[in-house]
Amino acid sequence: MARHLITSALPYINGIKHLGNMVGSMLPADVYSRYLRQRGHEVLFICATDEHGTPAELAAQEAGLPVAEFCTRAHEAQKAVYDGFGLSFDFFGRSSSPQNREITQEIARELQRNGFIEERAIRQVYSNADGRFLPDRYIVGTCPHCGYDKARGDQCENCTRVLDPTDLLEPRSAISGSADLEVRETKHLFLLQSKLTEEVEEWISAHGDDWPVLASSIARKWLTEGLQDRSITRDLEWGVPVPADVWPELAAAGKVFYVWFDAPIEYIGATKEWADAAPAGQLRDWKSWWYEADATVRYTEFMAKDNVPFHTVMFPATILGSRRPWKKVDYVKAFNWLTYYGGKFSTSQKRGIFTDVALELLPADYWRYFLMAHAPESDDSSFTWDLFAGVVNKDLADTLGNFVNRVLSFSRKRFGDHVPGGHAPGEAEQRLGAQIADLLAEYEAQLDALNFRKAAQSLRALWSAGNAYLDEKAPWLQVKTDPEAAALTLRTAMNLIHLYAVVSEPFIPTAAAAMRGAFASADDAPAASRRWVSAAEARALDLVPAGTAFTVPPVLFAKITDEDLAAWTVRFGGESA
Ligand code: MF3
Ligand code: ZN
Repeated sequence: MARHLITSALPYINGIKHLGNMVGSMLPADVYSRYLRQRGHEVLFICATDEHGTPAELAAQEAGLPVAEFCTRAHEAQKAVYDGFGLSFDFFGRSSSPQNREITQEIARELQRNGFIEERAIRQVYSNADGRFLPDRYIVGTCPHCGYDKARGDQCENCTRVLDPTDLLEPRSAISGSADLEVRETKHLFLLQSKLTEEVEEWISAHGDDWPVLASSIARKWLTEGLQDRSITRDLEWGVPVPADVWPELAAAGKVFYVWFDAPIEYIGATKEWADAAPAGQLRDWKSWWYEADATVRYTEFMAKDNVPFHTVMFPATILGSRRPWKKVDYVKAFNWLTYYGGKFSTSQKRGIFTDVALELLPADYWRYFLMAHAPESDDSSFTWDLFAGVVNKDLADTLGNFVNRVLSFSRKRFGDHVPGGHAPGEAEQRLGAQIADLLAEYEAQLDALNFRKAAQSLRALWSAGNAYLDEKAPWLQVKTDPEAAALTLRTAMNLIHLYAVVSEPFIPTAAAAMRGAFASADDAPAASRRWVSAAEARALDLVPAGTAFTVPPVLFAKITDEDLAAWTVRFGGESA
């Protein structure tokens, strides 16, 4: 059995994420993790907040908090939302952890030893009013090409030309607005990625063909353009300090590593955090996942497309250059953008729906199902309230929720609160069983291939098959002429509910638990287990035997009303793209 290491891109600390972030990394990673666990695989699902860098410092400043305190609070706030979404991380760590500091510094030392780091003096803009060096994008001024007066030091948003801060006319600090800027010479560490280009290329040739095109094409594009040496340190207060034993002068000058250097290392750091957090008497072996990991470890990463270059080219260059046997990714699942009415979800402009607000409107399962059923896999996909309400009302409320409720309420009314006996399965049940087994196989194949949209379609087809069977048999008519036939139909339908409970869990874990909980089973009965159903069990549909006590759960999914829809569209600025 494989051991599955699963990570999702680490959400940045500066604020609560929107649904677009959720669908492109953490949520699909959770669906996949849950699925593999149910199938009996060993899974380690790791995530963390990405906490260093200028935006974190600025967000802390805006909140009027010391940056460490800000990050602690912001980490807890994000964690609460992810718990609310049912994300089943084995550990949710912090890139500012001592574990990450230690591993990051160690990797830097190794890169130095192996000749891949060089100290270089560069000229950088210093703001006297702010008392700090300004990263390029925190310098604004007038674009020399188009005259736009809010161009950023890295790029002009208006004419899209790439800029150098020194190109700007009338440059000023984006933080304070001060024009009291000077260019100072300062020393930084550079990672000599150019020396590692061939090795990265070889590694991608060996593995990239298995990845989805979205990931491999971005990786190849970056390689064709050639890897540039890049500076991996910054003049900031908050970050992993440059180790003084190797670079005493830079350490004394307060240099820290660049956030994109230490963030991916936190995948390893967080695994060590997980191990260090083990309850007494429990041994968690973090190294077996990451260091000299054997061939049983399969590593799958989830991320949006903007993250692909860092994860397929730059981070691999870092760990290849360390000359240590760190585990490298086996499969990169990349996503396009989820848009809001065709426009950008934007954290800074507060456009679209944030994950905390989403949970105030509706329980997690509604969002989880919709987002995965419309995941931006082969292309961008667009969120609109109409689409969302249509999917929720049709798939979740009608096809699944109503089926469950109809079957259980009707059976209770006619046969009491135990699964009825009735006739032995006949031709219709055999047909149904064969169909369910086929659909299940298709569903599994899509999940194995990480095709989430298609997996959601197969899941919906499983739910629909139950409705078709019920309509065909019409137990509400059968009961008038042949109650034993009605009992068979209801017993079979209840077994479908049990099957739905098991196989829907990756997408809608809360509703799945409610469906499973409808049936009273001894703890050791197969029906009590969340373990995946086999093809034979799907065909037989008899894990819940006649005589099992059941209850009718509350309505699983409420419909979204026209009033909700109108209110939300106004509140969240729909159609304003
Ligand atoms: N915080 C980054 C983002 O939001 C992702 C970092 S992933 C990591 O795009 F692996 F580098 F941490
Ligand atoms: Zn311009």
